[in-house]
Amino acid sequence: MINNIKGTKDIGFNETYIWQFVESFIHGYLKKHGYSEVRTPTFENTDLFYRSIGENTDIVSKEMYTWKDQGNNMLTLRPELTASIVRYYIQNKLNKTHPIHRFYYIGPLYRRERPQKGRFRQFHQFGVEVFGSKHPEQDAEVIALSYNFYKLLHIKNIVLKINSIGSKDSRLNYISSLKKYLEKYKNELSDLSRKRLNTNPLRILDTKIDFEINIIKKAPKIIDYLSNDDKEYFNKTLEFLDAMNISYEIDPYLVRGLDYYSQTVFEIQCDSLGSQNALCGGGRYDYLVEELGGKETPAIGFAAGIERLLLSLDIKKIVPELSIDIYMITIGELAIKKSFTLLDYLRNTMNLTVINDTLRRTLKSQIKDANKMNAKHVIILGEEELNKNHIIVKNMETGHQDIVNFTDIQNYFK
Ligand code: HAM
Repeated sequence: MINNIKGTKDIGFNETYIWQFVESFIHGYLKKHGYSEVRTPTFENTDLFYRSIGENTDIVSKEMYTWKDQGNNMLTLRPELTASIVRYYIQNKLNKTHPIHRFYYIGPLYRRERPQKGRFRQFHQFGVEVFGSKHPEQDAEVIALSYNFYKLLHIKNIVLKINSIGSKDSRLNYISSLKKYLEKYKNELSDLSRKRLNTNPLRILDTKIDFEINIIKKAPKIIDYLSNDDKEYFNKTLEFLDAMNISYEIDPYLVRGLDYYSQTVFEIQCDSLGSQNALCGGGRYDYLVEELGGKETPAIGFAAGIERLLLSLDIKKIVPELSIDIYMITIGELAIKKSFTLLDYLRNTMNLTVINDTLRRTLKSQIKDANKMNAKHVIILGEEELNKNHIIVKNMETGHQDIVNFTDIQNYFK
């Protein structure tokens, strides 16, 4: 017996309708905002992720599925999609085709994290990336896009956290002050944080350990290290959010776990999710296109976990139940023969969803099955009906029955 791999999940036949609903909602929602879908391969050259996400991040240092293929190429299953979309943008010289590009994506990602509620090794995200605008209204657009998405789906207890980590220079100044401050508490820090003090001190701000949180509470705040331009940019972004009535919390310690960010960073968290409470996260990454070999291009985006969305979604209330238009009950071989023409007509000319029985079950058990499948109508076709050139149609909700001549079927189901 071979089972699925730990941290992965089958989306079973009785769940796919939920995914299909959410996916088509995402497509519709993003298209409405002028975003176009991009699909990139699920694996890329390992270097792409090293150079974008950063060597000292958790993702790159310990969570990537990386292997050498038969041609000695180092390849990696994508742990996120921003890097791939940036590669696509640069590779196709899209900066030359239009001054602004708004893209979105949906797909699976791979991170070898410890599986728990809301955390998987294969998971799915949808996300957006916008290339070309350096103005705060672009930040506000992207943030509002994510926030309103959850509002439209009636997700409760969501909090939008926002921060600015400034330009490169402001950040370098901040990191050196933060390091100085944390050095004082070196002996009290966990082994992991002690290690991060040298490799990636910003990550320590993300700690979930109580005694470290107390240390962090008194640490210098990045906001105090922003240049005047950075501050003005951040304030403008907030002003635009206010104009859209979007409520947010400024979180001075929100830094995000990927190295490519600059200026605005944000996350939407949902309290009911437990420890993996980030529904989505994103921010500006104005240096990344250039760092990966493209022309200097301002950019911003976010990505949202679909599994976590489903955990917080009131599925019964939001996702329409699966149902079929007609369940065709046949009794006897002659009726079965006649039903083929009828089935074809109802499905392909009338465009109805019709299921038929191929187990030659009794009338009673076919009715039972029709109920189980949430059929709106059943058609009963037995020998007697056949002889009289009609069918019986039963409305499963009201119980009302009609006798319908073969020639009247089209009108009846119109
Ligand atoms: P991220 O914060 O690493 O950002 O991931 C975004 C979202 O993906 C998370 O908020 C969470 O909902 C979901 N997620 C991440 N890891 C897992 C996991 N192991 N299992 C289930 N869900 C998970 C990014 O990926 C950036 N590329 C976002 C971005 C786009 N920034 C700019 N543009």
